[in-house]
Amino acid sequence: FVMERPKNEPILSYAPGSKEREELKEKLGELSSKEIEIPLIIGGKEIKTGNLGKCVMPHDHNHILAHYHMAGEKEIKMAIDAAIKAKEEWENYSYIDRISIFLKAAELLSTTWRSTLNAAAMLDLGKNVFQAEIDSACELIDFFRFNSYYATKIYTEQPQSSKGILNRMEYRALDGFIFAVPPFNFASISGNLPTAPAIMGNVVLWKPASSAVYTAYHIMKLLQEAGLPDGVINFIPGPGSKVGEIVFSDPNFGGVHFTGSVNTFNSMWESIGKNIRNYKSYPRIVGETGGKDFVIAHHTANRKALITALIRGAFEYQGQKCSAASRAYISKTVWEDIKDELIETTKNLKMGAPTDFSNFVNAVIDKAAFKKITGYIEYARENAKILVGGEYDDSVGYYIKPTIVLTDDPHFKTMEEEIFGPVLTLYIYDDDKYEEVLKLCDQTSPYGLTGSIFAQDREAIRKAEKILVHAAGNFYINDKPTGAVVDQQPFGGSRGSGTNDKAGSYLNLLRWTSARSIKENF
Ligand code: ALA
Repeated sequence: FVMERPKNEPILSYAPGSKEREELKEKLGELSSKEIEIPLIIGGKEIKTGNLGKCVMPHDHNHILAHYHMAGEKEIKMAIDAAIKAKEEWENYSYIDRISIFLKAAELLSTTWRSTLNAAAMLDLGKNVFQAEIDSACELIDFFRFNSYYATKIYTEQPQSSKGILNRMEYRALDGFIFAVPPFNFASISGNLPTAPAIMGNVVLWKPASSAVYTAYHIMKLLQEAGLPDGVINFIPGPGSKVGEIVFSDPNFGGVHFTGSVNTFNSMWESIGKNIRNYKSYPRIVGETGGKDFVIAHHTANRKALITALIRGAFEYQGQKCSAASRAYISKTVWEDIKDELIETTKNLKMGAPTDFSNFVNAVIDKAAFKKITGYIEYARENAKILVGGEYDDSVGYYIKPTIVLTDDPHFKTMEEEIFGPVLTLYIYDDDKYEEVLKLCDQTSPYGLTGSIFAQDREAIRKAEKILVHAAGNFYINDKPTGAVVDQQPFGGSRGSGTNDKAGSYLNLLRWTSARSIKENF
């Protein structure tokens, strides 16, 4: 059985007067007017530890959405036991039975759950309505549907047989449990990291990002309503390093599905390395880390398209996408043509609460992010030139104005380091230095996630493709470097950006199976 290739979930408009807008408004009111208590969910049971963290709204940090219980050593061990217990049945489900649960989750999210998850992402993650819709609705639905589809393709891919010999491939789950550790910035990634391995018959411990527990909890409830059996995915918020320490020292550890910082991923490799002799099988280590994503404008670039890409690429979701445009190399003649409009448009971007649908920019996720980003802004104020933005205020929410920095040093700190906020640094180059700039761009950052080239000249495009081979796992020509769509632009990069196991393609699903070849003679 192979499913038909699904279609991407259509993006709803939320136009004034639309049904979806009314529903969402109502849900925003409902969720923000009550404070909930979030338990751990282990083996399908709600567990309360009394060790509490809180979920607040980034745009109004005195407003508490929830308190959540954090896992300690006892609960993490309980979760491992529950997962291993559930494994026996789950891995022996037919893949059709497994995918039917995720297809059901997609249906629920496309209909009755859509406004709940979008409202959660808007209040908890600080997303405007469009950013919520493309993430917590469309992309998450796409992950459920397309991963189900990829799974059917993998399971039905069989080796050749011959007269008297039957050869088979059995796509088994991995030998152990999977540890899923998502970032705060995408509900879709939060939901994809535990469910992609689960679709392939694995059992999972899911530790949501501490600043996104509220959204993740709603995804967990959705999965339960879709019929996910107890213990297949265990929801265990808690302090990352503590949870990791216990998980990595367990002999049943079978793999990690991670998105987050380079430092955390490096520590994971080190812990796994230290414990390597204890495991039953070599674990799968799949991770997407940071980016220092670029835009390069050749002198033939289409000016209008470039301005739009810079603004959307750098400032949508306050630049908190691993794919966000954060350094741009712009030819001098292009710069002369675009600078006034770029600065003016950036200055006029409307900032405020996501509950007012006309705001383009919202608050950044939390205090730590606010401090880090504003630290970079102050550094740039001292050592380069701020063309627009540079103001910030955390008295009510963690607000930072979209900021453009101009430097004449291509190795300036904000050209090289990941900021994860609404800060774009520009370097202007002489038109005849295009090839040097391509090489410079390639060698400037340790990352390799996304990047864009703007040029009308075909030869300039080909040159960029050739020189920037490993600089961007997602390479865009005449488009912004953000907004990869499942099954259209499989997502991930190499170098310091991760293991490049392409979320949104069958390549990722392949990491969650350990195949057995069977030959039978007749
Ligand atoms: N998939 C997300 C994007 O492409 C990270 O922006």
